Order: sequence, then structure tokens, then C-alpha cells
Amino acid sequence: MSYFNLLGLEKEPFSTSPDPSFFFLSKEHKAALCRLQIAITLKRGLCVIMGDVGTGKTTLSRKLATVLKDEPDVLFHMILNPYFETAKQFLARVATLFHLKVRSRATALDYIEAIERYLFHQGVEEGKTVVLLVDEAQILPDFVLETLRILLNYETNEYKMLQLVLVGQMELLPRISRMENFWDRIAMKYVLNPLGVEEVREMLDFRLRQAGYTGGASLFTEDAVRRIWEHTQGYPRKLAQLCHQSLEGLVMYDRVIVDEALVDKLIAREIKPVDVAPVTTFVPPPTAVEA
Ligand SMILES: Nc1ncnc2c1ncn2[C@@H]1O[C@H](COP(=O)(O)OP(=O)(O)OP(=O)(O)O)[C@@H](O)[C@H]1O
Ligand SMILES: [Mg+2]
Repeated sequence: MSYFNLLGLEKEPFSTSPDPSFFFLSKEHKAALCRLQIAITLKRGLCVIMGDVGTGKTTLSRKLATVLKDEPDVLFHMILNPYFETAKQFLARVATLFHLKVRSRATALDYIEAIERYLFHQGVEEGKTVVLLVDEAQILPDFVLETLRILLNYETNEYKMLQLVLVGQMELLPRISRMENFWDRIAMKYVLNPLGVEEVREMLDFRLRQAGYTGGASLFTEDAVRRIWEHTQGYPRKLAQLCHQSLEGLVMYDRVIVDEALVDKLIAREIKPVDVAPVTTFVPPPTAVEA
């Protein structure tokens, strides 16, 4: 029996996988989701979502995928790991996502033409909105950004043919701001910030309920929530990890509610990253002849 069954829950409430059913619509996530939906519906072209590590970018992307799957006129495609060595490799991945048939030994230009034909057919002839979301966009090499810029040029008089959503860590910002002709094309940019203390309380209770918690009182005291917020600074991944440890702590120490003392104990127990001293090269003392 898992620790969460012992607490009367049906599921793991604080898993750190980006499960849309545990997606809490915080003010930040709601604003980002809403602005994305508007930009996509209006076919504005390029949207960029940025945020620090663990702010919920991938979770938001998956949520957007589930929301848009219900839209019959939207074709949603997602690249979660955009590691490419050449522009052609990237184009080949996009062609596969779009289910395109391309001749063997196709050139980059063949791929671009096939993708544009697809965008025209879906966008103009079938009246669909084609969305491509790329997560971890901070690792995209410049040649892929340049290829994306070419695809973004493909438009009718009224709208862009491809709705591109780039999602990435903050390193993406200097990368794309240096590329003026890319930066100018961004129709919507949003930076996801961490949660405030009230939202931390709401998110904990929400995730507990999603996991099957039906108790009247919360499993976390107000002081415990404040301490968790102080320690994690409201970053969702850190929050989920500390809350998970707190529930394990309840079982381990045979308690019924997570209080500040328990959270403090868990924080004190955490293994912190160590500062590794730089490796210094051993330089032998000069010999008598050299000296
Ligand atoms: N809106 C949310 N509601 C509930 N949980 C969330 C939310 N956002 C993030 N989380 C939690 O935080 C964890 C980390 O989120 P996620 O992986 O989406 O962050 P990220 O910004 O993509 O991180 P990275 O920069 O490392 O890619 C998720 O697995 C989830 O447990
Ligand atoms: Mg991510």
C-alpha cells in the first residue's frame, strides 16, 4: 500500500510529472493560457512563453494541448525535446508530425515546400488552425529559429498559416531578442512567475482534492503553508517536492496534519547542492636547473 492510500487518497497528489488533471489554474497560468488561446484563435502567428526552471511551462503546454484537442478546427502538434543537429533534421521532424509524405533523399527545400503545401491545404482549403508548440525552446539552435522564421513568413492577407508557440527558460530571451527579425514577429510574449502564498494554499488543496482527499480540514496548517511558500518561493516544482515529502513525513512520523515544525524538519534534512572547489592543476616546484 502506498503512503497516499494510508492518508485516504486514491492517487499521488504531489507527483512532479506534468499531469493536466493536476493543473491548477493560478493567476499566472490562467493569464498565459487565456492569451495563448486568443492569439491562436486570431491566428496571430508567433507566441513566446518563458519562465524560470520549474515554473510550470511544460504543465501549461500539456494543458493547452488538452484544451485545444476539444476544438474541432485546431490541429495541435507538440515537440517536447527540440534537439536538432541540422535544419533538415528539424524539418523532417515537423513533416513527420504533420504526417507528410516526402520523397526519399528530400532536401530542406523539399520539406519546406511540403510543409507549406500542408499549411495551405489545412489553413485555407479546410479552414483549420495549425499549431506547433516547441517546449525547451531555449536549446533551439539559431538555424532552427531561422527556419521557423521562414515558415512564419507564410501567410495570407489576413492571417499567419502556422501558429507557433515557443516555450522555454529565460535564456531564450537574450537569444531571440538578438535576432531582430524574429523578435519583431512575436505577437504575444508572457513570462510565468511563481505563485504567491495564497495561491500556494489553493494549489495544495486543489491537488489534494484531485487525488481524492475528502476531509473537511486541510492536511496543512496555515503556518506550514507559509513556511513551504518561503522555502520554495512559490516555484511549483519545488512546492510539489516539499509537499510530497510533507505527506510522507505524516506517515513516517505518525502525524495527522502537516505543521510548521514538520516542514522545518524536512527542510533541515534536505540535501543541498554542494559548492565543488575548482580543480587546480598541480604545478611542480621549479627544479634547480630551471630556477
Ligand atoms: N499550474 C500548475 N498546477 C499544478 N502543478 C503545477 C503547475 N505548474 C507546475 N506544476 C508542478 O510543477 C512541476 C514542474 O512543472 P513543469 O515541469 O511544467 O515546469 P517547467 O517550467 O516546464 O520546468 P523546466 O524549466 O525544468 O522545464 C510539475 O510537474 C507539476 O507538479
Ligand atoms: Mg519543462
